[in-house]
Amino acid sequence: MCGIVGYVGRAEAAPILLEGLRRLEYRGYDSAGVATLEEGCVSVRKEVGRIDDLKKAIGSHPIGGTTGISHTRWATHGKVTRENAHPHFDRSGKLALVHNGVIENYASLRAQLEEEGHIFQSQTDTEVLAHLVGRAFDRSSERTQGALVAAVRDALRQVTGTYGIGVVHAEFPGLIIGARRGSPLVLGIGKGEHFLASDVSAIVSHTRDVVYLNDYEIAAITEDGFTLSTVEGLGADYNVTTVDMTDEDVGKGDYTHFMLKEIHEQVRSVTDAMRGRLSHEEATAKLGGLNMTNAELRSVERIVLTGCGTALHAAMVGEYLIEHLAQVPTECEFASEFRYRNLPMTKDTLVFVMSQSGETADTLAALRESKRKGHRTLGICNNVASTIARESDGGVYMHAGPEIGVAATKSFTSQVTVLALIALLLGRIRNLSSAAGSRIISEMETLPDLIAKVLAKEEEIAAVARRYAQAKVMLFMGRQLNYPVALEGALKLKEISYIAASGYPSAELKHGVIALVNAETPSVFIAPDDAVFHKNLSNIEEVKARGGPVIAIGTEGKGGELSLICDDVILIPQAPEILTPILTSIVLQIFAYHIAVELGCDVDKPRNLAKSVTVE
Ligand code: F6R
Repeated sequence: MCGIVGYVGRAEAAPILLEGLRRLEYRGYDSAGVATLEEGCVSVRKEVGRIDDLKKAIGSHPIGGTTGISHTRWATHGKVTRENAHPHFDRSGKLALVHNGVIENYASLRAQLEEEGHIFQSQTDTEVLAHLVGRAFDRSSERTQGALVAAVRDALRQVTGTYGIGVVHAEFPGLIIGARRGSPLVLGIGKGEHFLASDVSAIVSHTRDVVYLNDYEIAAITEDGFTLSTVEGLGADYNVTTVDMTDEDVGKGDYTHFMLKEIHEQVRSVTDAMRGRLSHEEATAKLGGLNMTNAELRSVERIVLTGCGTALHAAMVGEYLIEHLAQVPTECEFASEFRYRNLPMTKDTLVFVMSQSGETADTLAALRESKRKGHRTLGICNNVASTIARESDGGVYMHAGPEIGVAATKSFTSQVTVLALIALLLGRIRNLSSAAGSRIISEMETLPDLIAKVLAKEEEIAAVARRYAQAKVMLFMGRQLNYPVALEGALKLKEISYIAASGYPSAELKHGVIALVNAETPSVFIAPDDAVFHKNLSNIEEVKARGGPVIAIGTEGKGGELSLICDDVILIPQAPEILTPILTSIVLQIFAYHIAVELGCDVDKPRNLAKSVTVE
């Protein structure tokens, strides 16, 4: 989604801003722009397309100055055009503003401003905010920095919706004002320079000392320092955090794509999700971050897991794991639906919100609704500084490291790993024996080796993928724990290769889906060696009987039966049933990746998609 980078210091701002925007490319965008302050004016360059296009525009018409703001836009209000790209100006042309989020009451505000004679250049909600700030400043009796901050405050009091903003004004060449409500904003502290960004990865090559702004806070930033206040006009305290992220973490290394790098990081990311959390002595998982005693956990009667996209698919695996190991009734719900449903939730319902970024608007809204209703609401997040992580009553961090590829990969396997730990803990304080707990721990400890074995098959999987890359439609089937993996495999394929793909429980085939089966429509069956292996085999026979090509993901030792009827077979190593979703999902990540590469798709920047969806 949209990204913001601001710089104030002694160096040329434009190259720093462009580099920061490049690091935010992964979030998804359709246009970009930069504004710098030079010689008493605001210089601006905007382009539709890639950061490279903006860089070329600046190359042919350079802009100077040591203070500036910049933005990548993912269109919500108004088409993808240069006029709608940020920064936007106020009526005087001296104030420029970049904005993430949505101003919900922009239409009535715009009508009111137009009545006063304001003329707008774009269809965006953002331009309304720029005009509001400019109008408030031009009405004030002073032309001081304090008066500009007051004008921002005045404008923000008039808007409803969400915002993360950066503002510069031609009369204050060494000042940026930032503010947030609902859209993340971080302030970076350097020596003789300061930064503003919507995502710390944009500025981590310059500084690791940051202040995360809270909702309704306004920061006035100069090269030498910053002050914080609130939209209500009060002072605000802050903590300086040293981020645990290096330049290397946010780079591609030797990999051709972030997605491939992150697929290969899964031995480490899954290890990190388990690190220090398995207790052989007590045959259970230790999850102190839940902030709940065993007695409180034992009184939980029902669990609701909520999230979006891949996070919801991981939740669906979690539903099986929790019910299987702990016998606690568990339900998964789209975060986008959670708020609008009247889910029957007893007072002993525990809610988990799941989000890699910790900033997904729908998931955040579900968290707030659940808390509003008085339920204890825990987070399973990767981004420790995120809004969801901060607003949850407790939770479990995934420790997967930054995930930059738009298609979620390592976050899925880390989420499933964390849910397996939660299932083990809940099981052990109920009926699960210590012998069973010990066995599960030993099995989980084999996961990194099993993942390494799957990753070693990349070339074999890639060869199969290339054979099916020209398909127009693909079906994914799995049962039980591997049904959510079928959904996830289909999602991975469609989002990066644009092949129409859907996932189903294998037996659903005969209730309608089978009508799609023909010689041009491959079916991917996830059929590891588990309790439903032979049921899957029968479903494969049904597809083969109708001339449909079948790719099966099976288990070493059971490959023979699959090879007899399937066109292609990819085998995962022998593994306990509860771990198979992690291994089969990695096969499907590699499969989707190589199809997309074969088709020449932009794997890390799929069309229309954003990494972190911060609007509803
Ligand atoms: C798919 C994908 C999305 C995200 C979803 C939730 O590959 O990445 O479906 O899983 O947007 O994102 P988070 O986990 O950040 O809340």
